[in-house]
Amino acid sequence: MKTQQIAELKIMKDEITRFMMKYKFALDEMETKIDILKEEFQTLHDYCPIEHTKSRLKTPESILKKVYRKGIDLSLESIEEHIKDIAGLRITCSFLSDIYNVSNMLQNQNDLKVLEVKDYVKNPKPNGYQSLHLILEVPVFLSDRVEHVCVEVQIRTIAMDFWASLEHKIFYKYNQSVPEKLLRELKIAADTANALDHQMERLQREVQMIKKSHPEEPILDELKSIQISNHQFKLPSGILDVLTKD
Ligand code: GTP
Ligand code: MG
Repeated sequence: MKTQQIAELKIMKDEITRFMMKYKFALDEMETKIDILKEEFQTLHDYCPIEHTKSRLKTPESILKKVYRKGIDLSLESIEEHIKDIAGLRITCSFLSDIYNVSNMLQNQNDLKVLEVKDYVKNPKPNGYQSLHLILEVPVFLSDRVEHVCVEVQIRTIAMDFWASLEHKIFYKYNQSVPEKLLRELKIAADTANALDHQMERLQREVQMIKKSHPEEPILDELKSIQISNHQFKLPSGILDVLTKD
């Protein structure tokens, strides 16, 4: 191989690494945002709407397949313009209403720009697929510039995630041509998952109503003072109300 060819390959490799790195940084930022929300919820609200998250970077092989499938130019500019899910974050929520709460929290963060919202929860796909998809633009601050990077965020419940994960596996097992009967059964399973989500949402609302009408016994009422290092500190009246507030 000629020296010039080697030098060109090195430049190409560096450019691709730089390209992929900004998507990784954008995902890192999104993960930090989610971690902050989770910790805030857990600490202050004693309840967290986020069950778990999973992020992934598309592999170069999978990017090339999409370039081929979409018939777009094979250039980094064209890939950046047309493929919006190189960085992907999946957020699994506890209840249906949490999907919109989490989505609103992200949409209201003013460093994030919402490029697209696809609501497959209100409008499920014909096969039964449900999730809320957001395409967000995240600013990534590099040493000499700011890059605005797209991240696809999928927000769904545990039941939606369960269905989508298994459907995806079945789809690949049959090499994407699933028998008609199985498709019908999958749709029924999606409806069942959806019914379960609505049932759990109703249950959660009932529990909240009960909690509101029967507030927890103020067991701390007994505690009027605290002993620290052999000294008894009197607690001002009212402090316990503040501490035990939801
Ligand atoms: P793409 O070019 O494939 O990204 O098309 P699109 O942007 O129209 O896709 P869409 O927003 O509808 O879906 C993007 C992602 O959602 C997919 O990569 C999957 O992760 C997920 N998804 C969409 N439809 C289905 C489905 O029917 N089953 C499962 N399991 N996942 C789906
Ligand atoms: Mg997409």
